[in-house]
Amino acid sequence: MKELSVRPEIYKYRSAKEFAEDFRLQKGDLILTNEYIYRPHFGALDLECDVICQENYGAGEPTDEMVEAILKDIKGEPKRIIAVGGGTVLDIAKLFALKQVSPVLDLYDGKLPIEKNKELILVPTTCGTGSEVTNIAILALTSRGTKKGLAVDEMFADSAVLIPDLLSGLPFRVFAASSIDALVHAVESSLSPKANETTKMFGYRAIEMILKGYLEIAEKGPGARLMILDDFLTASNYAGIAFGNAGCAAVHALSYPLGAVYHVPHGESNYAIFTGVLKNYMELKPEGELLKLNRFIADLIGCQIDDVYDETENLLNVLLPKKPLHAYGMKETEIEPFTNSVLENQQRLLVNNFAEFDRDRILKIYRELF
Ligand SMILES: NC(=O)c1ccc[n+]([C@@H]2O[C@H](COP(=O)([O-])OP(=O)(O)OC[C@H]3O[C@@H](n4cnc5c(N)ncnc54)[C@H](O)[C@@H]3O)[C@@H](O)[C@H]2O)c1
Ligand SMILES: [Fe+2]
Repeated sequence: MKELSVRPEIYKYRSAKEFAEDFRLQKGDLILTNEYIYRPHFGALDLECDVICQENYGAGEPTDEMVEAILKDIKGEPKRIIAVGGGTVLDIAKLFALKQVSPVLDLYDGKLPIEKNKELILVPTTCGTGSEVTNIAILALTSRGTKKGLAVDEMFADSAVLIPDLLSGLPFRVFAASSIDALVHAVESSLSPKANETTKMFGYRAIEMILKGYLEIAEKGPGARLMILDDFLTASNYAGIAFGNAGCAAVHALSYPLGAVYHVPHGESNYAIFTGVLKNYMELKPEGELLKLNRFIADLIGCQIDDVYDETENLLNVLLPKKPLHAYGMKETEIEPFTNSVLENQQRLLVNNFAEFDRDRILKIYRELF
């Protein structure tokens, strides 16, 4: 049985300049990024690459419409696609490494041949998605009101490049949401039936780095993160390796309709669901890896094991207050359609649940969190 696969080569640099020189960024390369990340870090390097700024094609997380619009502006056939940005930019860039991308809806419905014909280099500037090492590109399919992941090996980058310095301008709120996303990846993958000792080594180490970082921020204030950005970027990468192999589960599955319909940032919608799912795992199956995880987290944050989820929330609330689902605009009448959407669209994730969730259980969790 396969233990672990890490497809991209992983690099780490101190600055954008070191990266640009080592990778010989040049004419014929296409950089997909955001102006406010590119200008301060790459602007002075005067690179001859084509540069496309994602924010000119719409705000928020990636949609099929955004991908279609950017595609129209790509000139010729770039040799390499280089993405410098958050999960949004990285996931879009993955699609552009393919020979045929459009119609995007057909691509996501499996109706197009999937053939990668460009080199793909991913440089994350948030500390959450781990997308630089996973084979998934997640889009909100606007016309369908849900998010869907295209998970095929052609979505793997050739190189994943970690430059902690690029995160220095990351707003605190984005830092918080994205690092919670990484924490959820680490937890969900460690509880997954596909987990093994190797994936858990990455998962548990990521949990430790993130929670220790949160304790430091809780003690010293938001500015403390700037000294430990390397830890958070590395943890996010480890969590990506863990969930890229062992998968994510119900937290992600239940958070997708909320994210897609109410445009809640991915990490924040995960947080809204996170402990609600763990508490239901405890009701259904208080044993094995779940108890081990509870003990690990309780020891890290210094609390009683029975209070572990509430105390985890208290710590996370320092970064990002947890809100009930209705505070994001969700209506009570949507509990049923959201549940249906999860059952229809997210089986890829539900198979990785620590305990099996039937329809009634998903309805119950949405009601509890509403
Ligand atoms: N492919 C995967 O494996 C995977 C895994 C989890 C999530 N995702 C997807 O990733 C997306 C979320 O990505 P995200 O959490 O990284 O957020 P994001 O990419 O949406 O970025 C959030 C905001 O922060 C800005 N930003 C990013 N980096 C910055 C920096 N260094 N300085 C200043 N501003 C910066 C962005 O422009 C954006 O406005 C979702 O669509 C989610 O579905 C993908
Ligand atoms: Fe995620």
